[in-house]
Amino acid sequence: MESFVLFSSLTVTSDTFRLDLTRDETFPAHRMNTEKERYSRDKTFVATDPPTNAAHLELELVEEMGSGGTGVVYSARVFQQNSDDTLPSELVVKFARLNHCRNLAREAWVYERMAIHTKLLGSAAPRCYGFFTTKLPECYRAASLEDTDISRYGLLTYEKYVSLRPKYPWMFRHYDEHRERDDKLEDDTKFRPLQHPELEQTRFKDLSPWNEWKPDLNDPLIAVLVLDKGGPSYTYADDRDSDVRLDVELLLEDFQVAGIGPADFRMPNVVRAPPQTAMCPKHNVIHKWNIIDFNICRVLDWARVRHVRYAMELIKPIYRGSAFYS
Ligand SMILES: Nc1ncnc2c1ncn2[C@@H]1O[C@H](COP(=O)(O)OP(=O)(O)O)[C@@H](O)[C@H]1O
Ligand SMILES: [Mg+2]
Repeated sequence: MESFVLFSSLTVTSDTFRLDLTRDETFPAHRMNTEKERYSRDKTFVATDPPTNAAHLELELVEEMGSGGTGVVYSARVFQQNSDDTLPSELVVKFARLNHCRNLAREAWVYERMAIHTKLLGSAAPRCYGFFTTKLPECYRAASLEDTDISRYGLLTYEKYVSLRPKYPWMFRHYDEHRERDDKLEDDTKFRPLQHPELEQTRFKDLSPWNEWKPDLNDPLIAVLVLDKGGPSYTYADDRDSDVRLDVELLLEDFQVAGIGPADFRMPNVVRAPPQTAMCPKHNVIHKWNIIDFNICRVLDWARVRHVRYAMELIKPIYRGSAFYS
């Protein structure tokens, strides 16, 4: 079965906590309207109902693998699960930091769209096992939502930095600014007020419960995505290898054809493909690399595009430009 609909609930355990989460609805994007170079409301750009009576997944966190502007990613062992499918023994859990649940809900929608409308998952991007949320139980609400102040420690070695990591994955990092809100998304532009009968066309971006979401630090929400586990990110050494560059060019073509433009395309967001990666149906190869991190994305519907070559250029990220090397 498609990985995105296998599970309706999730338990995550670690040495320091246990969370029980349920599937939540994702946050749709507006359609990128390449003719007008803006975003448009579109009733096919909607969130689907999360599965309710599907299987349960239980994961045991292993270690932090990386972090970025939105989240913190941990490798995790599959401890138990009762779906009929066979799962890899290890997956990853991407936790949103407390103010970034809206951005993670958007990334979840991009995975949902990829699962329904494209063949990217499992070949060009990791499979996604769902988007889950829960309210943070009182017992884990530390007095402070961040328990390390890295600026106090002077020059940091890597070991020292690791030892200073916040106790819980959802806690703020020293670089988190604007903790009272989430970062704006590209399609957060203003639209004229909705008129009846547009109001009836529920669940596109404006009417999503996520659209007006703000973090409540007195009653925090925890949001996670579960994904296949890839390997290390792209490095300068990889960049000198022409086979690597060819593989990444092919991946970018897969995304273009699917109408998904990964607009945060940078070295940390290109990772070695998971071991169970399947044959790419377009190129008949098993890609050695995958693209990740989709909250900043341009999504279009090829059926509604007239100037195809122009649109192709608009959604293709720049590879080998300065933005990529950061
Ligand atoms: N599925 C994955 N497999 C392997 N590593 C991953 C995976 N997802 C994320 N990572 C690692 O974690 C880092 C942060 O994840 P990312 O999704 O880019 O978060 P953010 O949105 O905060 O930038 C990545 O740069 C990468 O090193
Ligand atoms: Mg990233």
